[in-house]
Amino acid sequence: MIQLKFSYKNALNFVGKQDIFKYQEAIDSHFLAIRERTGRGNDFLGWTDLPSAIDEALIGKIEAAAIRFREKSEVSVVVGIGGSYLGARAVIEALSPHFNLLKKKAGNPVMLFAGNNISEDYLAELLQVLDEKEYTLTVISKSGTTTEPALAFRLLRDHMEKKYGKAATKQRIIAITDKEKGALKQLADEEGYETFVVPDDVGGRYSVLTPVGLLPIAIAGFDIRKLLKGAQNMAAFSATSSKIDVNPVATYAAVRNALYTKGKTTEIMVNYEPRLFYFTEWWKQLYGESEGKENKGIFPAGVSNTTDLHSMGQYIQEGMRNLFETVLSVEQSQHELRIPDDEANLDKLNYIAGKRINEVNHMAELGTTLAHVDGGVPNLKVNIPEISENTLGEAIYFYEMACAVSGYLLGINPFDQPGVEAYKRNMFALLGKPGFEKETEAIRRKL
Ligand code: PA5
Repeated sequence: MIQLKFSYKNALNFVGKQDIFKYQEAIDSHFLAIRERTGRGNDFLGWTDLPSAIDEALIGKIEAAAIRFREKSEVSVVVGIGGSYLGARAVIEALSPHFNLLKKKAGNPVMLFAGNNISEDYLAELLQVLDEKEYTLTVISKSGTTTEPALAFRLLRDHMEKKYGKAATKQRIIAITDKEKGALKQLADEEGYETFVVPDDVGGRYSVLTPVGLLPIAIAGFDIRKLLKGAQNMAAFSATSSKIDVNPVATYAAVRNALYTKGKTTEIMVNYEPRLFYFTEWWKQLYGESEGKENKGIFPAGVSNTTDLHSMGQYIQEGMRNLFETVLSVEQSQHELRIPDDEANLDKLNYIAGKRINEVNHMAELGTTLAHVDGGVPNLKVNIPEISENTLGEAIYFYEMACAVSGYLLGINPFDQPGVEAYKRNMFALLGKPGFEKETEAIRRKL
């Protein structure tokens, strides 16, 4: 059985059941197309089998590499961007203590991320930190040629070779890339770095259950077998039925498309746990890059509450009515903390003295949901009992599968990303990259 539950009762003021269930036939055929790999983008459906297809030898190799790195690391740096970054970060941040001092206490390396921006200050300050820490580095790039991680890796490799020498550097770098092609693969082979493979048939944003996500998650000290088990459970459950009233994957895909056709063109993923900030970022990439094409697609946004109720809450309550929300709701917290009684009661909080903070958070969640629904914002809810490897594994597979089905309902290919090349061409032209001479001339005329 799965632990994740999905509810759309707070959307029913905005869409009728007939608007949702009209997708049943299409959903049945999309489930079949995914299983039989006959739909658009079917070369990139390797992720559907990942949770159970990953073999014991690979899991063992990942765990062994993680142990080796953990022994050498106060800090472990993960270099990558987009799909080669967000899955690992989402899971690591969701499972880690909030504060670095507590991470250290638990005996885990502090995980730092690079290659996901081109900020000179970010990289310079990272090098300052690494001057003083024992560190290891995982570089992840499927193509092996993406500018942001390539740049960061060049700087970090240089730093590492100066700090540890060339021979020791070899033991401190792992590359995750294509099995045979690309600059990173060539470099890793020449330098003798340990490597892991990004499977050909898995796109970046669906790759968290490959070494791309699993190795950094294991280095950070988390149980990748439990993560895979959670995803396996969701995959097995999802394979039993494509019925909208049985399978939450089908329900979510149908409801969000029904809302979209009613003009709800922005979906806000809402969390009430700061640990889930990067999970929302992962979800934004998954849905944005999968669905935003051919001038279509729901725009995926995110808020972290209650923090953002004091910044974005006004807009959500009373701004443009093209929004719906999907709350990733967590029942249990990891710690128990009760509100102390205070005789003076100047802050007037004694009426909740003795209550758990988590209960207050849940009342904030419920109150917000009801207010937003009253304000014209439909509300969907994905519920998990706690944040753990197991529930995150379930949630990852749930969102991936729903994204594929939802993308097919929208009539687009959910597995390509042709639009991400445009900025790269301009940037290469502006930087004068060899091979881009014509573009350089054309762009200079525009400026
Ligand atoms: O999902 C995707 O395909 C992208 O986000 C890529 O993962 C991202 O651009 C990084 O690409 P690469 O792994 O080739 O460096």
